[in-house]
Amino acid sequence: MLLLALETSCDETAASVVRHEGAGRCTVLSSVVASQHELHAEYAGVVPELASRAHVEAVLPTIREALTEAGIGLGMIDGIAVGNRPGLIGSLLVGVAAAKSLAWSLRKPLIGVDHVLAHLYSGVLQEDERQDGNKRPDRTSGSAGAQTRELNAQHDLFPALGLVVSGGHTAIYRLQSWSEVSRVGSTIDDAMGEAYDKVATLLGLPHPGGPNLDRLASNQGANDKAHDFPISRLSPTSLDFSFSGLKTAVLYAVRGVPVDGKYPPDKLALTAQERVDLAASFQRATCKALTIKLERAISAARDQGTPYRSLLTGGGVTANSRLRSELAALAPRHGLGLLLPAMRYCMDNAAMIGGLGGELLKSGQASDMGLQAIPTASR
Ligand code: KG4
Ligand code: ZN
Repeated sequence: MLLLALETSCDETAASVVRHEGAGRCTVLSSVVASQHELHAEYAGVVPELASRAHVEAVLPTIREALTEAGIGLGMIDGIAVGNRPGLIGSLLVGVAAAKSLAWSLRKPLIGVDHVLAHLYSGVLQEDERQDGNKRPDRTSGSAGAQTRELNAQHDLFPALGLVVSGGHTAIYRLQSWSEVSRVGSTIDDAMGEAYDKVATLLGLPHPGGPNLDRLASNQGANDKAHDFPISRLSPTSLDFSFSGLKTAVLYAVRGVPVDGKYPPDKLALTAQERVDLAASFQRATCKALTIKLERAISAARDQGTPYRSLLTGGGVTANSRLRSELAALAPRHGLGLLLPAMRYCMDNAAMIGGLGGELLKSGQASDMGLQAIPTASR
């Protein structure tokens, strides 16, 4: 089954062709992402109206490029998947309108996909054998080594514990199947990627903050224990996250603790070593915050007699080198198979939409022409 997939929820216009085969295998024949980063750079954030206009201009050329790269004609497509939630409403509308038009004119099924849940599929995506070595999935990458178990057959995956960590979302899920998903925990304030971006700005790092902070923290000689930053546990059983206290702690470490609402004036500029140590200590604290909650979720499921078999991960922050190593160590410790996305599928892309879209179509969950663009997540 060949699916064309579209993703326009924020500031990337993306199109992809994926091929669903037996035993839960999904191969990416093309994945094209037209980024708008330069367009929004001068505003230090995404401007919704600019984003939707840019999607209008980019959507058809991006679809054309995805089809050409896959060597597929529109007539060969078996369905159209589109990320229809959550996201910026004007941006989502462009993808949804394009997908509906194609599905209607080709008389093919239309499948609306939740973007956040689609991130969980990104570790399942297989690269097309015909493509060059640079694009091969690096499931085991990060300094973690080759501990990732190959989990192609779906019956090995479920029940699965899902972790999405991105710039807009930080949540954990229980998946009985691709279509039976419940959220078991989420951030009560900042998303983890957002915390990375804000702390990167505090440390004077340029956009994009997360990857630059990761690079700084990976410096040789970094002392990740230089600062004992707070790790929020919320309550002994909570599976939720909070990153705002940690962010404030880094702010105070950089600018000093304010007295009567004013920061100390005589705080000296950070040395290069201090910046490296701050980045490494922050990174240690964020990763610890995630692994504590994952281990709680794993233990709780085991105690209830419904243990997880795999850990599915996705979202921009799964590109983080330390997080990848820690997840690769955590999963086998608990007997779980780990699916880490290849680096190119950590960020927003349409292949993951086609991946989850195909699973929904197989389980009879196609949408109809009433499909709406919805700003909020489904779970
Ligand atoms: O999933 P994504 O592309 O977009 C959203 O849906 O939000 O995630 C982008 C987020 C940004 O906050 C970015 O700073 C973060 O992922 N990110 C990282 C790394 N690479 C990207 N954060 C930490 N370490 C990284 N290596
Ligand atoms: Zn995303």
